[in-house]
Amino acid sequence: MNSHPDQAELALLLEAIAQTYGYDFREYSEASLQRRLVQWLSRSGCSCIEEARSRILGDPEVFEGLLRGLTVNVSEMFRDPQVFKALREQVTPHLKTYPFVKIWHAGCARGEEAYSMAIVLEEEGLNGRYCLYATDVNREALSKAREGVFPVKDMQLFTRNYQQSGGRSSFSDYYTARYDRALLSPLLKQRMVFASHNLAVDHVFGEMQLVLCRNVLIYFKKQLKDRALRLFDNSLAPGGFLCLGMQETLDGREIAPRYREIAPGTRIYRKGYQ
Ligand SMILES: C[S@@+](CC[C@H](N)C(=O)[O-])C[C@H]1O[C@@H](n2cnc3c(N)ncnc32)[C@H](O)[C@@H]1O
Repeated sequence: MNSHPDQAELALLLEAIAQTYGYDFREYSEASLQRRLVQWLSRSGCSCIEEARSRILGDPEVFEGLLRGLTVNVSEMFRDPQVFKALREQVTPHLKTYPFVKIWHAGCARGEEAYSMAIVLEEEGLNGRYCLYATDVNREALSKAREGVFPVKDMQLFTRNYQQSGGRSSFSDYYTARYDRALLSPLLKQRMVFASHNLAVDHVFGEMQLVLCRNVLIYFKKQLKDRALRLFDNSLAPGGFLCLGMQETLDGREIAPRYREIAPGTRIYRKGYQ
């Protein structure tokens, strides 16, 4: 496509996508979404926005391709190691007081964060007493997450993050390297459930002791941020924890009065008992 579609044309396309597929991108921050949509449109071989529109709406496979292009699935194991250190040292002691713990990773990408959490929980003695629900809107990312296979070149960074997060073992105990791929230990996924869940349209997930949604809200506009935060609030048991990304905060949000940050700058909030 030679010329860029204007804002009104994009808005109409997003509206039609929401009506046809139930995926609502209308409340995503415009700058990043527009850039990604324009990139996809120029790769699509469509000569005009009308052609793109009819292909996307007429062919679910074309739409799946677009969906992959619109969502950002970048992640790391033990991303922001200081957060995993705080989860290990300040959150797991509370989790250990429950007979069974349920944790929701919303926007789990390829599962990096959920696998990291499984390692923390195993090392901190919650063996077998937890279930990790890892959800995402991107089905391709979810199927990668289920495989638990990562490029072997990523292991150096993951190992460094693991060590900085207070890992108690050797990170190499958790994977087997085969040529250029690293297979995470199947034991880690025994207590994981991967499922499709869209924060823009789907509903509450169950009663959780910890919800992690990191580096997802940054892509949302205010209304969608508030919707997602309401879902987390309704999913969390009193005394439960909410962990956001380093650039995300509850400041000024509707649910903020019920939460306090466990330590400044951790972006881990605890829900009060009312
Ligand atoms: C940048 S990744 C963050 C991954 C991980 N939480 C982390 O912090 O490293 C953002 C993820 O949010 C997912 N996502 C975007 N919109 C979503 C929505 N409406 N519902 C659920 N997940 C969504 C994307 O597919 C992507 O996997």
